[in-house]
Amino acid sequence: MKRSLFMSMIVAALAFALAMPLYAGGKAAPAGTITMQPSAGKATKKPAKFSHKSHAAAKCAECHHHKVGSNEYAKCDSKGCHEDMTAKTGAKSYYAAFHSNNPKSCVGCHKKAANPKAPTACNKCHA
Ligand code: HEC
Ligand code: HEC
Ligand code: HEC
Repeated sequence: MKRSLFMSMIVAALAFALAMPLYAGGKAAPAGTITMQPSAGKATKKPAKFSHKSHAAAKCAECHHHKVGSNEYAKCDSKGCHEDMTAKTGAKSYYAAFHSNNPKSCVGCHKKAANPKAPTACNKCHA
């Protein structure tokens, strides 16, 4: 093998390794802010904002904990998941997925983190 080719392979491998924290299964976490809304039904609050950048310390699977078919990053309210728009508690509840005390939920993790930068006030997420 030519030395230059070998070097460029090393450089490519290094670049990949450095990029790893934001990649998993070949898919990148969206760089921008995601505006979240229920796929069906009527929202009563302003859509919640979510940024992967401020959650880079968490493992992907802490939130993306269930595959839908082969999709590791399916929407939270996919069929069979947190799709119940009326229940306030339980695994299928849309509301509970984001506000329960389970550390996988937004508010659950924020309460546990007890970090002033992790908001628990409604209007900090529904902004
Ligand atoms: C703190 C929770 C959390 C962590 C950690 C997290 N994500 Fe996400 N991710 C979300 C939420 C919430 C959404 C939006 C889901 C929805 O719209 O229902 C999302 C959406 C996505 C999407 C977009 C899917 C689409 O349809 O556009 C991809 C891809 C993704 N995440 C990849 C990743 C990867 C890769 C990691 C790890 C590097 C990661 N996420 C870490 C919460 C998280
Ligand atoms: C695994 C724990 C964890 C989960 C789950 C989590 N967060 Fe956070 N979040 C944090 C931490 C820690 C911070 C503070 C980051 C820092 O130090 O800046 C934070 C910061 C934030 C902030 C303030 C910074 C910013 O991006 O504006 C918002 C808003 C936010 N989270 C929304 C959400 C939403 C919405 C969800 C659910 C879809 C969610 N978080 C799920 C741990 C979590
Ligand atoms: C850490 C972020 C976070 C905080 C704090 C938060 N929510 Fe949410 N909430 C979400 C996410 C994410 C969703 C799902 C996306 C959406 O529908 O906006 C959601 C959805 C909802 C929904 C269902 C959708 C709708 O608009 O009707 C209601 C109701 C709701 N939140 C009420 C509240 C109330 C009331 C508070 C304050 C007591 C609150 N939330 C605090 C993240 C948060």
